[in-house]
Amino acid sequence: MQTATTKKFMTLERFINEQERLYADATGEFSGLLHDLSLAAKLVWREVSKAGLVNIIGSTDRMNVSGDMVKKLDEFADETIYKAMDHGGHLCCMASEENEDILHIPDEYPDGKYVLLYDPLDGSSNIDANITIGSIFSIFKRVTKGRKGALEDCLQPGYKQAAAGYIIYGSSTIFVYTAGRGVHGFTLDPSVGEFLLSHENIRIPKKGKIYSMNEGNFCNWSDGMQRYVQHLKTPDKTSGRPYSLRYIGTMVGDAHRTLLYGGIFAYPGDKKNPEGKLRLMYECNPMALIIEQAGGRSSDGTKSILQVQPTSLHQHTPVFMGSEEDVTLCEEFLQGKR
Ligand code: AHG
Ligand code: MN
Ligand code: MN
Repeated sequence: MQTATTKKFMTLERFINEQERLYADATGEFSGLLHDLSLAAKLVWREVSKAGLVNIIGSTDRMNVSGDMVKKLDEFADETIYKAMDHGGHLCCMASEENEDILHIPDEYPDGKYVLLYDPLDGSSNIDANITIGSIFSIFKRVTKGRKGALEDCLQPGYKQAAAGYIIYGSSTIFVYTAGRGVHGFTLDPSVGEFLLSHENIRIPKKGKIYSMNEGNFCNWSDGMQRYVQHLKTPDKTSGRPYSLRYIGTMVGDAHRTLLYGGIFAYPGDKKNPEGKLRLMYECNPMALIIEQAGGRSSDGTKSILQVQPTSLHQHTPVFMGSEEDVTLCEEFLQGKR
């Protein structure tokens, strides 16, 4: 039997390199990209783990050692990820939840054949309460030719993602990604500064017993959505009801728990916001690819999130994702079939 002490250490970098060797269609360029992302993740984690110290060692307008103003954490994460990714030669452009337009690669750096879209800090309202936050990324192959990337390279449907993932800054820091061959998680060992393989080939349970959504919006939900949640709360031993409610308010955290334990995470549209709150390109697409790669389902109410054709960078979409049986049942209620 293999025990913890006999298990070989597999760093994120080595894992990516081995995957590259295994698959003929893989290119070294892609491992370089993921490697740069893991560095960005460590830089953001370093700052996130000091968040509470701002009140002790200085406010957001103090200068840091390099002379820069200390920024709000989401601005810091946004710039850090951009700067870690702009010069690797892997990307032709980027887009971030924090910036209205696409972000170009500076002229002095080479451009590459991929596009990166990211939510630099997800769950930012939870920072001051020391509750789990995260970063999310989505990678496409570029579709235009020429020196610079364009909006068209970013506005691709989710099923075309070459890779996607997130970093969760929780009780430990975990890097989860898929490049279309399963979902793998790596936990940061802060003492050596390496992400080590901790969750190989994650599979989401077929059915769970947890629902995760902001039920404070109940009165504004559609009739189908209201009936679905009433159903989950109505006791029935044989089908495992009532479900438990868990809601962090950080999509990365809620989706990560759903991935590991099963159940459903949702942010439906409602009377006030028919398209819901979450963003297709930075939040829903990457999480949907992870969940589907792990054997789960995603939906906008009628079709997979990955089939939604984007029309603008910051568009919102209703989202339902998690265990196959749970998402299917939710859709049936939404579509009035139950
Ligand atoms: P962000 O911090 O990137 O703006 O995202 C916050 C999002 C998401 O993480 C979470 O699922 C949702 O907001 C929570 O919204 P409610 O407070 O409306 O429940
Ligand atoms: Mn977010
Ligand atoms: Mn954000």
